Amino acid sequence: MSAQPAILFVCLGNICRSPLAEGALRAELTARGLGWSVDSAGTGDWHVGNPPDPRAIEEATRRGVDIVGLRARQVKSQDFDRFTHIFALDESNLADLRRIAPPVAKADLSLLLDMVPGHEGRSVADPYFGDDSSFARTWDEVSLAARMLIERL
Ligand code: 4NP
Repeated sequence: MSAQPAILFVCLGNICRSPLAEGALRAELTARGLGWSVDSAGTGDWHVGNPPDPRAIEEATRRGVDIVGLRARQVKSQDFDRFTHIFALDESNLADLRRIAPPVAKADLSLLLDMVPGHEGRSVADPYFGDDSSFARTWDEVSLAARMLIERL
């Protein structure tokens, strides 16, 4: 009867954090035989059409998840009706999403780490200007959040 969750992850460029979150959630859903709809997008348009950052691809591969085929896109107002939940990776992404959200929206909008007990209100740090360990940390954060959100939604 009620529709399955449809999840959108949103960061700035849609080449580092949100594709990792998408890959992590897809892998967890596949492992559980769940067919939820999952996507990711960026608030910015600089990387539209591009695959994830090579460092993100490498980190996902290291964790056994293939994100090579993902392509960046920019979030749009219709996303607030297509998805049941939109998760911002950081506070700045959340503020940008609040600005573009239509007055009446289906999607529940929150920070991704609100799903992780003890991490509510926290941002997933941007690894773009970091080193490889930043991407490992990003993976750890988004994959924990992915597992938690499956349990909580
Ligand atoms: P993301 O990381 O938002 O996690 O995809 C970034 C990607 C690109 C840029 C910044 C952050 N950039 O400045 O181009």
